[in-house]
Formats: sequence, structure tokens, C-alpha cells
Amino acid sequence: MESSLPGLEAILLVGGQGTRLRPLTLGTPKPLLPTAGVPFLAHQLARARAFGVRRIVFATSYKAAMFEPAFGDGAAFGLSLEYMTEESPLGTGGAIRNAAEALDSGPGDPVLILNGDILSGHDIGDQVRAHLARRAAVTLHLTEVDDPTRFGCVPTDETGRVTAFLEKTPNPVTNRINAGCYVFTRSMIDSIPCGEVVSVERETFPGLIKSGELVLGYADRTYWLDVGTPAAFVQGSRDLVLGRLDSPALPGPTGECLALDGARISPEAKVRGGTAVGARAVVEAGATVTGSVLLDDSVVESGAAVTDAVVGKGARVCAGTVVRDAVIGDGAVVGPGNELRHGVRIWPGVELPERAVRYSSDV
Ligand code: GDD
Ligand code: MG
Repeated sequence: MESSLPGLEAILLVGGQGTRLRPLTLGTPKPLLPTAGVPFLAHQLARARAFGVRRIVFATSYKAAMFEPAFGDGAAFGLSLEYMTEESPLGTGGAIRNAAEALDSGPGDPVLILNGDILSGHDIGDQVRAHLARRAAVTLHLTEVDDPTRFGCVPTDETGRVTAFLEKTPNPVTNRINAGCYVFTRSMIDSIPCGEVVSVERETFPGLIKSGELVLGYADRTYWLDVGTPAAFVQGSRDLVLGRLDSPALPGPTGECLALDGARISPEAKVRGGTAVGARAVVEAGATVTGSVLLDDSVVESGAAVTDAVVGKGARVCAGTVVRDAVIGDGAVVGPGNELRHGVRIWPGVELPERAVRYSSDV
């Protein structure tokens, strides 16, 4: 990848509950959801590795015990991984402070911090170099979005200095937002109070700016996505399968469809638009699946049309059903002739009878 900084340590924030992704996150934490065929974090780990990161401390809380079985000591990724768990969630700042106990870095060293739900094409090495060159306290990766109200709004002056940090403000002053990847000078992490609930977005960053420390913005316009909502999660998987963001962790060639081992796709089915088909999943003849995520052991029956949707583990979409922009929970059955659209979520194990839901506006 573009440029690397060997030996860099990182903290990965993975303790959030992923509430916006329910029911997918009822049994699996957001960072472990299968995305383009592998747990989401595999893409972030592989990219960090490619930029020279060698040691990553996971800051875990929600479903903390599920991370180590998934990634172990990191050897399979060419990384050394450690797991630091909060007894109760400490917020983003408290989590960083807690995880930092496991770092080897000295007070003046740069430490990379990553939100665990971001796909980003930016050059991490370049961000770290900008941080070092300006001797910043913290350097924030910034990107631009259409709706900044859902993010941390980050205005900067002409030198790149961050002048305010406005988390989820209804009145954003710029479209430039916090992209969830920080370089902290280690001593700045140590100044976060230990064992307390702290938000970096609402407390640490505004506090550093107020006290005159250099908080620097590193802005770019490469690929960027927070996969924290169902629509964004599906988009992330689709973009990885299509190759819109390069990931060393993609378990196959890029293309219209990525099928895992044991998937059975009828030659008379149309599966395209960056769809990921899980292990042993079945797509029957005459079905159309576009830009979607079919998890392991799921079934799409003949004549069904699935678009921009997630079909959970072992779930079944019956014949002639339309599923668009929807989430079907694990093990759910959507009976024949239904139309599910507009962000509908079917809870795990639910069995929807034949023709129970239709959208008259679309008929
Ligand atoms: N360990 C731990 N403990 N991790 C946590 C906790 C906690 O108490 N709370 C949140 N996290 C982790 C989440 O797992 C996620 O990886 C990251 O911190 C950010 O939390 P989200 O819940 O995804 O926040 P957001 O998307 O609403 O906003 C954040 O990300 C935006 C960019 O995507 C903020 O940093 C915004 O300022 C930013 O714009
Ligand atoms: Mg997020």
C-alpha cells in the first residue's frame, strides 16, 4: 500500500452495542458481522497491517468474549493482538485510556486509534507523518459527507488546526466530519482520567482544543464509510466485493458476486451487484439477488427478488417474495408472496405467513 510506518501500535475501539444494526447485532457484535465473506474487522486489520501497524489492542466491552476466538493472537494476520475489556462500557475515551495499559509506546510516540466500524481508503502512513511533522497532540482523519448531523462536525482553520469539535450537532458549520481514525501522541492518552466514562468526541477533543493543544485535521477524499446502519453495512459489503475499496482480506476475486465454500447458486439465478453469498447458502433458479448479503445457510427460493438487503444465517426467503432495503434476522422465514421494503427488519426466528406484508404504493 501507499506508504508504511513499521512498528506503529494501534487501539481498535470495538465495544459499542451496534444498536442501529439490530437485529444483526443481537448475537454478534458489529465488528464481527460477516462483510464480503469475512468478519468486518478482517478488512480493517489487513489495511492497518499494510500500512505498517504491527500490534493492535482491542478495546472490548459488548460481547467481549467473542473477539479472541475470532482473531486469536493475530499471527494469521501478521499482527500481534491483545484484548482489553472494560467491566462496564467506559465510552470512547475511557476505552482508549483502558486499552493503553497494554501499549509499549513511550510518551512521545504516535499511537493510532481506529473506530471499529469504518472502511477507509486513506493513507494511514501519511496521516501519521502529518502528525509527526506538525508535532500535534492529536491528528484526526477528516472526510466530507452530505449529512454531517449524524457525525462529529470538525471545522479547521487555514493551517489545518481544528477549531471546534461538534459531536452530532443539529447545526453543522461544515460538511467536514471526524472519520474515526486518530493519531494520538501517547502522553495525551495518559491525560485521560483512568477508569471513568469519557467520550473523546464530547470531552477529550473539545478539552484539548480549549487548552490550546494542537489538534490537527488530516482531510482527504478517498473512499470512506461508517457501516453502522443496515443500509451502510450492505453498501460496505457490496463495495468490497465490487472492488471499490481494495481489501487484502477479501476471500476471493472482486466481481459481481462473491460465493463462499459450499454456496449453491442455480445457473438460472441472477446474482450480481456485489452480492456476498455465505457458506452453504442456496439461491434457487429464477431468483434475483442484487447488491445484498446472504449469510451462511440462508435460502432464496425460486422467483424471489432480493435487493440491497441482508438475509440472516439460516433464514429463508420463500418463492416470489420481494425483499428490498430490509434485514431478515437469523433463522427467520419470509413466506411466499410478501413484499418487504423501506428498512423493514424481521426479527430472528420469526415466521411471516404467505402474503402477510405488501406495499400498495409500489403495486
Ligand atoms: N470499548 C468501547 N467502549 N468501545 C466503544 C464504546 C465503549 O464504551 N462506545 C463506542 N465504542 C466504539 C464502537 O464500537 C465504535 O467502533 C466506535 O467506538 C464509535 O462508536 P459508534 O457508536 O460507531 O459512534 P458513531 O458512529 O455514532 O460516531 C463516531 O464515529 C463517527 C464516524 O463514523 C464518532 O467518533 C463521530 O465523531 C464520528 O464522526
Ligand atoms: Mg460508527
